[in-house]
Amino acid sequence: MDQATTERIKREIEFEFGRTEPPEGFPSLPDIPAQRYIDPGFFDLERRLLWPRAWLFAAHVGQLPEPGSFLLWEASGVPVLLVRGEDERIRAFFNTCRHRGAPVVREPCGRARRLRCHYHSWVYDLDGSLHAVPDERDFVALEKAQRGLIELRCETWGGWIFVNRDAEAPALATAIGPVPAELEDLEVDKLRFVTSYSLHLECNWKASVEAFLEVYHLKHIHADTVDKFLDHRGAAMGLLPGGHSRMATPVRPEILVDGNVPSPFSSFGRPGEIPRITNLAYNLFPNLVTPLDITGFPFLLFWPLDIRTTRLDVLWFGGPDYEPEEDGSLPVLWQKRKAAFDLVLDEDTENLAAIQKSLESGGFRGIPLNYQERRLYHLHEQIDRTMGIDDIPATMRVQPRLVDWVEPVAEGDA
Ligand code: FES
Repeated sequence: MDQATTERIKREIEFEFGRTEPPEGFPSLPDIPAQRYIDPGFFDLERRLLWPRAWLFAAHVGQLPEPGSFLLWEASGVPVLLVRGEDERIRAFFNTCRHRGAPVVREPCGRARRLRCHYHSWVYDLDGSLHAVPDERDFVALEKAQRGLIELRCETWGGWIFVNRDAEAPALATAIGPVPAELEDLEVDKLRFVTSYSLHLECNWKASVEAFLEVYHLKHIHADTVDKFLDHRGAAMGLLPGGHSRMATPVRPEILVDGNVPSPFSSFGRPGEIPRITNLAYNLFPNLVTPLDITGFPFLLFWPLDIRTTRLDVLWFGGPDYEPEEDGSLPVLWQKRKAAFDLVLDEDTENLAAIQKSLESGGFRGIPLNYQERRLYHLHEQIDRTMGIDDIPATMRVQPRLVDWVEPVAEGDA
C-alpha cells in the first residue's frame, strides 16, 4: 500500500472518530428494494447477467501443483475444469465433452497426462485440444482441430485463479483495479493454501455477503469477541471502482504491542502500517470477502445455490513458511486459529436463516442503509451496472447515489 493511501486511510480513521454526523454532502440512500432478495425474477437476472460477466475466484495455484493437475470447479453454477498444462499455464474449460456433452472429468481433482471422457473415450490434451477419437473412421469430415474443449477466461493475481465466462470482459488486472497494488507489500504470490471448508446458509447470497461489509453490528453480535479488539467508530470505508471496497477498522490501542497485534504466527511480506494497526478487509466484487491478517487469513466466498440458500466457502492462506503436519493435517496452532475464527463466523451467520424468513414474510419493504453501511449500497450499484440497468425492472433497481464517493483511481492503477 503506497504512502498516499496509507495517509488517507489514517486521516479517514481520525475523521471517523471525530465526526458527529455523516460528512457534508453524503446523500440520503434510497431503500434497497426488498424484491432484490426474494423475487425469483431478480434471482434469474443475476443468474443470466451477473455471474457470467464477473471475475470469480476459483482456486489457488497450490491446488494445481504440477502439469496435469486438474480441479473441477462448479461453484459458479456451471461445471468448469481447471487444468495446469505442460507449459505450466493454468487454463479453464467447460467440463463438457465436444462429442455428446458428457463431463470429461468426474473426479473433484487429480492428475492426468491427458483428459479422457468416460463415455466414448474422446481424449483431450492438457491444453484442451482434441487428441484422439475412437473409431474416427466412422465420423465424416470431423475436424479435430475445431473440437477442442471450450476455453474460458482464466487469469491469476498472486497465486489466486479467477475465471470469467464473458469473453469480452476486461482483463482481471483492470477489473480489480487498485487492490493488487494495495496488497503488494504482503507478497501474496508467496502465500500457501492451508485448508478449506464450506457452510450452508439459509439466506440469499447478498444478505449473506452484507453481513461482512460493515462493522455497525460489532457491538451487538460480537460483544465478547471482535468488539474487544476492534473499535468500529473509527472504521474507514473505501469504495473502489468496479464495486470493490475496502474497510479498515482500527485495532484498539491497548491491544497493540510495539505497533503490532501480538500473534504466535510469524508475519509475511513487508506489511505497512495499515494492515498492522487495523483489521483490513476487502470485498472483491461480487462475492469474495477477505479479512486480511499479516500472519494468515481466509477468503470467504458466497455462492448462491438457490434464491434462499448460499454456500459459504472458507479458504485459508498462510505465509510461505506454512507446513501441514506430516499426515497432511492442520497444525495445532492453526486448528486453534480456525476454531477462534469459526466462533466469530457463527456469530455472523446464526441470524441469517431467520433474516431470510423475515425478508420473505411480507413485512419487509426495503433496507434504509446508513453512512457506515455504504459498502452494501456500492455493491448493489455495481450489480445493476453489471447486469445493465435497462434489463432490471424499475421497481427493483438501485438508484445510483455513490458515484462521487468512489475513490479516484491512482496513476498507474488505470
Ligand atoms: Fe464424450 Fe462421447 S460424450 S466421448
